[in-house]
Amino acid sequence: MYSSKISGLGRYVPDNIVTNDDLSKMMDTNDAWIQERTGIKERRWVQEGSDDTTASMGVKAAKIAIERASIDKEDIDFIVFATLSPDYYFPGPGVMVQKALGLKTVGALDVRNQCSGFVYALSVADNYIKTGMYKNILVIGSELHSHGLDKTTRGRGVSVIFGDGAGAAVLSRAEATSKGILSTHLHSEGEFAEELIVKAPGMGTRWVTDILEEDDPNDESYFPYMNGQFVFKNALVRFSEVIMEGLQTNQLAVGDIDILIPHQANLRISQFIQKKFELGDDQVFNNIQKYGNTTAASIPIALTEAWEAGKIKEGDLVVLAAFGSGFTWGSVIIRW
Ligand code: UT7
Repeated sequence: MYSSKISGLGRYVPDNIVTNDDLSKMMDTNDAWIQERTGIKERRWVQEGSDDTTASMGVKAAKIAIERASIDKEDIDFIVFATLSPDYYFPGPGVMVQKALGLKTVGALDVRNQCSGFVYALSVADNYIKTGMYKNILVIGSELHSHGLDKTTRGRGVSVIFGDGAGAAVLSRAEATSKGILSTHLHSEGEFAEELIVKAPGMGTRWVTDILEEDDPNDESYFPYMNGQFVFKNALVRFSEVIMEGLQTNQLAVGDIDILIPHQANLRISQFIQKKFELGDDQVFNNIQKYGNTTAASIPIALTEAWEAGKIKEGDLVVLAAFGSGFTWGSVIIRW
């Protein structure tokens, strides 16, 4: 068995900043409500007419990660791409990255695990590396939410939360050491699939032709629906559980955490965990204030920013944790 380590990180967010005040011109909302309930001050939304897509933003983040890994792009031998907002219904964006980077015919896998997408993607890549199947895997999380949100008052409970952006990591083989990804932990609970969902179009339920035929202006099924308070309560429990599971697996304790990078769902969720685990302000990294919830991109963007800011040093215990639609949740324990 080999070890796997993150050898390069990159991020990309669109230039266009949308403040809470900007949103209040589109719908009945206000800066005070959004900041108090979520911590979000602004988010990035791809400008109309921009070339940015989920795949192309992923490529931009990936190029930075590859350069920082000090490898040639030809050294990448597999791609894992996590998103809930692919450019096309199919194929997924993994193959578009393969094409854009000119990576001959390397395999590309798409992960559909929403806010836990990057954690799931990293887990897949980690195991491919550890078993010796691949040497350098490009792992991307990218989302273009803004085109699919209900930007009227009807959708305000969801739309004010989500932002666009991409993050990427190169996961590389290392000789077996006590460093790198120590373990990953994945869970799901399909019983609650409908609590955070975009229902249409769905192959087995209601396809595009039905939507067009019905042409119902009150149809909300193609916008995200979220049972906010229920999701919130489950997130608090599952985040805590899966962080503890990861630590205990490695005979570690909460006090060993140097930096926790939680999926950026709501600042109140991060603050709850910080308080529960008695972590200091410098032990929990948050950037939801600037970017909102970028789903599969949130952890790689935050991890990259934390690393760029010098908050992650060699030997640190870095914990990633996510929870979201599915429900799915997971954690990654890394000795940097
Ligand atoms: O990333 C995947 C996982 N996602 C999460 O973990 C998100 C979990 N949930 C949440 O973060 C929170 O539930 C929300 C931020 C989505 C909502 O906050 P909340 O404190 O649960 O508010 P609420 O949905 O209970 O709504 C409270 C009130 C309602 O009005 P009434 O019925 O009390 O009169 C809403 O209509 O706030 C109203 N409201 C708004 N007001 C102004 C909902 N959205 C807005 C808005 N602006 N954008």
